[in-house]
Amino acid sequence: MTDTSRVRLWLVTLALALSGCAGPFPQSTLRPRSDFAQATDSLFTDIFWWAAAVFVLVEVLLVVALVRFRHREGRPAPKPAHGHTLLEIAWTLAPAVILVFVAVPTVRTIFTSSGEAPADALKVEVIGHQWWWEFRYLDLALTTANELHLPVGKPVRIGITSADVIHSFWAPLLGGKRDAIPGQTNYIAFRADSVGDYSGQCAEFCGVSHANMRLRVIVDSDTAFGAWAQAQLGPPATPPKASPAEQGRAIYARSACIGCHLIQGVSAGVIGPGLTHVGSRTTIAGGILPNDSAHLAAWIADAPALKPGSLMMRMKPPLSDADIAALVAYLQSLK
Ligand code: CUA
Repeated sequence: MTDTSRVRLWLVTLALALSGCAGPFPQSTLRPRSDFAQATDSLFTDIFWWAAAVFVLVEVLLVVALVRFRHREGRPAPKPAHGHTLLEIAWTLAPAVILVFVAVPTVRTIFTSSGEAPADALKVEVIGHQWWWEFRYLDLALTTANELHLPVGKPVRIGITSADVIHSFWAPLLGGKRDAIPGQTNYIAFRADSVGDYSGQCAEFCGVSHANMRLRVIVDSDTAFGAWAQAQLGPPATPPKASPAEQGRAIYARSACIGCHLIQGVSAGVIGPGLTHVGSRTTIAGGILPNDSAHLAAWIADAPALKPGSLMMRMKPPLSDADIAALVAYLQSLK
């Protein structure tokens, strides 16, 4: 390899490494931000060091044996050992003891992560859909989509299920993945320990847009969470008279949108995500696109082009650019 190509290889490797860990919402199980994630991370670290010790021991013994007992001209073959009771007891007991050190914390972590939570925990039902997430706050009578807000430092119990096929709810910095199975509810519980935006995704193949089924968990301070919940519980914003947003509301109310989406007081669809406060979300389309004018317009015009298999069809007849712009203004006004 020439010097130039070696430098190139390093640059490519560096670029790949940096792109892998850059971005505002890194998904890493090695940066725990909740008690659940901390427990699994500690378990991983403990087992890693046990495995490392076993690896080093085995490799050292192997190298010693290879060097010491290698074939040399004129030397007799080394004498094989048979029936060494002490050795046999040692190599049976040592792995058994190591496995106990691995098994006990593993089983303990399985039990602590089984969804047990104090009675006052915030209860959220997560429902997987092809390809978006519905979040129902059971005590608050509040439903939202794709972005889960949680208060920092408070215990949360999340019941996970599905409306169609099997999905898997996974926000790596906050906890392990758990399957979303139709007709069954699986639980996880945790207490997020730092405010922040944490990205997550569906972790079970669930159809053509499995990779487009992302989510965001936004851990708020207590006051910010209260303010968010209050705003979400309120009615949708009323657009000012003769504004593009008001025009957009009229277009929305007479279009196919109303068959699938809920906007309190305007439409009552339940197939797609509720839009009563869609303007307050940072992303659209199952967390894959930023919630801005350009992406909203592109999404309304042709959702399946952005998310293959999307249930949100192209409108027939298609909406004009002016109608789409008005709709975008209306949706953005729904803070
Ligand atoms: Cu839902 Cu993969």
